[in-house]
Amino acid sequence: MKALILAAGEGTRLRPLTWACPKQLLPLAGRPVVFYVIQKIAEAGIDDIGMVVSPNREEEFRKVVGDGSEWGVKIDYVVQPEPLGLAHAVKVSRSFINSSPFLLFLGDNLIEVEVASLLSEFKNSVSDALILLKEVSDARAFGVAELDDQGKIVHVEEKPNKPRSNLALVGVYLFSEAVWEIIEGLQPSSRGELEITDAIQGLINRGREVRSYILPGRWLDVGQRNDLLLANSLLLQDRIQPEIQGEVDSESHISGNVEMGGGTVVRESNIEGPAFLGKDCEIISSSVGPEVSLGARVRIEGCLVERSIIMEGCHISRIHLKDSILGRRAKVAGKGRNDCTRLTLTDDCQVELWDSETS
Ligand code: TTP
Repeated sequence: MKALILAAGEGTRLRPLTWACPKQLLPLAGRPVVFYVIQKIAEAGIDDIGMVVSPNREEEFRKVVGDGSEWGVKIDYVVQPEPLGLAHAVKVSRSFINSSPFLLFLGDNLIEVEVASLLSEFKNSVSDALILLKEVSDARAFGVAELDDQGKIVHVEEKPNKPRSNLALVGVYLFSEAVWEIIEGLQPSSRGELEITDAIQGLINRGREVRSYILPGRWLDVGQRNDLLLANSLLLQDRIQPEIQGEVDSESHISGNVEMGGGTVVRESNIEGPAFLGKDCEIISSSVGPEVSLGARVRIEGCLVERSIIMEGCHISRIHLKDSILGRRAKVAGKGRNDCTRLTLTDDCQVELWDSETS
């Protein structure tokens, strides 16, 4: 069994962040989004993974993710020339997949599921597809599945105005080789994409069995900034264990679960967990946390920072930040800690707040 991770796409809803960094490489609790996906797949025993990337992002993925040896797997890269839909991304990966059944996993989806149990359910069935579904309150923004009373999928539809159920397609799919014939014959949808829902419907129309697996656990699709902040908070809550490297002076206080990298210095500050502080950060006369992730080499002075993602190399002074996402090397200088500010900045931005009368 091989796995395909889809990590091309433009990430338009996460602009301006995605101008500088692909969505799947944005950090959550100190690790890029796609690392959680790779780990899940590796834990299920699949060690042959194809990563579909855009041409202009291939180098960055190769640098950050590498060849997979960190997870004990092999990662090959497949370039999708244009983001023409999920089924198009699969189509361009045909020579990588070859004739094997495969697991398809969207690279921006964080899912609480044992992939191994999905695999064994698929292997023990006669189905040509197994589709992961999740109950949602409003299914109109998703691919939606209708089931029969045995859990077989009888109909799927992309973003319907009148959903036939509250079961959304989550972004994890298992396919047999039968899907290739359908994918090769797909035509672009009204939004100009080759839709994976059309491929699934094509299997159903040909009398193939398509089974469902309803996800009992959490599903986080990090498509928009608030999803990213929520995912960061939940991952910090779940994963961070207290581990303090670096130096904390006697006038500072650490509470809750805080992971702090080597070389980080905390002076006259409070750090409230859950929080992740990367290596070589400097926190001075500040209050950081809860639910804050800092990349490496972040400098914070005279600030209050809550529920935020601050990427590597940022410098922040005299400001109260909440629900903010700062790209790499952003520089923010405020006027004091009284007013709360929410910022979304891409890499290398500079923000300075000042009173014109006093300057
Ligand atoms: P989407 O979130 O549907 O699309 P996107 O990433 O381009 O974001 P936006 O809608 O904000 O512009 O994509 C889901 C996943 O599939 C994501 O990891 C990117 C990937 N993908 C591809 O690999 N190729 C594609 O052609 C598309 C559309 C998405």
